Amino acid sequence: MSNPSLLILAGDGIGPEVMTQVNRVIDWIGDKRGLAFDVSEDLVGGAAYDKHGTPLHDDTMAKAMEVDAVLLGAVGGPKYDALDFSVKPERGLLRLRKEMDLYANLRPAQCFDALADFSSLKRDVVAGLDIVIVRELTSGIYFGEPRGIIHEGNERVGINTQRYTESEIDRVARSAFELARRRGNKVCSMEKANVMESGILWREVVQKVHDEDYPDVELSHMYADAGAMQLCRWPKQFDVIVTDNLFGDLLSDAAAMLTGSLGMLPSASLGAPMANGRPKALYEPVHGSAPDIAGQGKANPIACILSFAMALRYSFDQGDEAVRIEKAVEKVLADGLRTADLIGEEGVEPVSTEQMGDAILAALDASL
Ligand code: NAD
Ligand code: IPM
Ligand code: MN
Repeated sequence: MSNPSLLILAGDGIGPEVMTQVNRVIDWIGDKRGLAFDVSEDLVGGAAYDKHGTPLHDDTMAKAMEVDAVLLGAVGGPKYDALDFSVKPERGLLRLRKEMDLYANLRPAQCFDALADFSSLKRDVVAGLDIVIVRELTSGIYFGEPRGIIHEGNERVGINTQRYTESEIDRVARSAFELARRRGNKVCSMEKANVMESGILWREVVQKVHDEDYPDVELSHMYADAGAMQLCRWPKQFDVIVTDNLFGDLLSDAAAMLTGSLGMLPSASLGAPMANGRPKALYEPVHGSAPDIAGQGKANPIACILSFAMALRYSFDQGDEAVRIEKAVEKVLADGLRTADLIGEEGVEPVSTEQMGDAILAALDASL
């Protein structure tokens, strides 16, 4: 049998820097655990634009449709700010999500004990935190029509449309309930049913899916603005949060700070099962290309490494190896290693991206 296939799209800014460390972990898993992957690499975002004049070449899109999983670094950066909207780096990522139909974006926010004092919130509030935001990823205001900038009278109008079908809400709700059953069995759905019709429908459909097929899971509803407040006030009240594309984007960046840094948060974007029963999938850190630190060897590679761990769990049935990587990360943090984003008032000397990679590999070796 051939090895499982992985397409790596490192992208822009710190994307390639953190991906270099992930590649080392992939090699380690192949050498030391006998789990070899057929890895291919390609361009996305600004890097693809520079070469092809498009942020995602059709051939790359075709490859992404064929492989068992895609691993993406990050896209974007100031160099591309002036580009036409249609070829901006972010369009490449959005095309991947849309054409692969990756409707369920799992964004776990876990606070490692060693970082509990580093979060901007009090230790009590975040210690032991383990929640997952399930963000709808292929619809809503990101993709709704009509959209655009039009002329009206003597001024311009920017238009985006929030739009959700019942089936789009239904399927992401099922993903959240299924996930909750494997965790704390609790789902909180967030929308703004008080001001948006799409929110009213969202609430109704989530409730119906619950009542018909998941009555054993505890379900609550919250307005997304109140949800943002509760996420900062007492995040441990949550287990799984399910929400739309835009609210999920905002809430997951906020959740990142509960864990200490945006450089810690991995994510899995999952679609419908393929012929082999596994979901179509793309794994990527929640953070972006971090132009302010790109090229300086400062980036925290943990979010991207943990994204590969999620790939092992969700695409390759290698939950034990995923745990091995998560434990290795936990160990280096417990040993006091910190990239610059994880240093506050402590006065600890930061380690580089590569040194963090070295330490994680050493912890992996020690796990054997
Ligand atoms: P960002 O996530 O790139 O950076 C926000 C802040 O967090 C910066 O101060 C950055 O230095 C820090 N940071 C992020 N990741 C880090 C890491 N791994 N280690 C250490 N520090 C880290 O968000 P932004 O600045 O708003 O956006 C920059 C570019 O990235 C934009 O073009 C944006 O569109 C793009 N972006 C891409 C993705 C993606 O590819 N999935 C996600 C978010 C933003
Ligand atoms: C994210 C990013 C993306 C989003 C951008 C880069 C398209 O912010 O993955 O969180 O808005 O979804
Ligand atoms: Mn975002």
